[in-house]
Amino acid sequence: MNPNLPTPDTSGLDIEGRYALARRLAQQAAQQGVKYYAQRGSLVVDTKEGDRQNVVSVADRELEDFIRGELKAAFPEDGFLGEESGSASLNARCVWVIDPIDGTACFVNGLHTWCVSVGLMIDGEPYLGAIADPNHDELFHGCLGRGAFVNDTPLQVSDAGHVREGLMGVGTFYQQGKEHFLPFLAGLLEQGGVFYRNGSGALMTAYVAAGRLIGYYETRLKSWDCLAGLVLVREAGGLRNDFFRGEGLLEGNSYLVACPGVYRQLEELIGPSLNAI
Ligand code: IPD
Ligand code: CA
Ligand code: CA
Repeated sequence: MNPNLPTPDTSGLDIEGRYALARRLAQQAAQQGVKYYAQRGSLVVDTKEGDRQNVVSVADRELEDFIRGELKAAFPEDGFLGEESGSASLNARCVWVIDPIDGTACFVNGLHTWCVSVGLMIDGEPYLGAIADPNHDELFHGCLGRGAFVNDTPLQVSDAGHVREGLMGVGTFYQQGKEHFLPFLAGLLEQGGVFYRNGSGALMTAYVAAGRLIGYYETRLKSWDCLAGLVLVREAGGLRNDFFRGEGLLEGNSYLVACPGVYRQLEELIGPSLNAI
């Protein structure tokens, strides 16, 4: 648990411009995604590393190229990390971390839970972000010190004090870490909890900030799935584990976000694997 997260000194940086850009690009990319989604039957779907569950389409690549190009034009000095096209200038103070479509498996199978996630990290800390969900007309966004919102409505995490008091988001995907999933679920159910998965780590993170879920645990998540959402969780009063430990930014880590009233209980249910390298 990390109640004392750093807040970077951003004097001299154009935060307003970057925040507006993040919101605009997430929205515009999501609208482009909607056009592909309407024609998803004719999209060519590839698999990553031969894994039939890990899919990608031309939509993912084109949306990322669009976002990356716009960021480069507006803030050429900033670094970049994207799921589809890799990284550049990771030593910069400002590094954009984006997932052009989070929930690709949902997208290609006609399920409405996918989104575009655009996050900005400053001095290693998630600083601002925007997550656009065009199927539900929701733009989640936030910036350190300014709060977190869905459209114009402020976000606040749940006031639950026990896992039996709400819905818990869960997920497991990568080979590494999946052995921790069923023991966690068993413990959660034993304590009266219930679980939810919608196939988008970015949306489930936003739902924690919005108080719709009391928490969200994924045995292993990548930074582009959650960086924008982590800003929302922090601004909405939630807690996170030490996700960026080790090679977390590039390789991912186990992941927990939750409202303060259940964080400790969830941490105990997951056990030491939560913060193991
Ligand atoms: C995936 C989603 C999913 C999570 C996976 C992610 P993608 O992202 O966030 O919910 O379980 O770990 O990889 O592949 O749809 O961008
Ligand atoms: Ca993702
Ligand atoms: Ca993705």
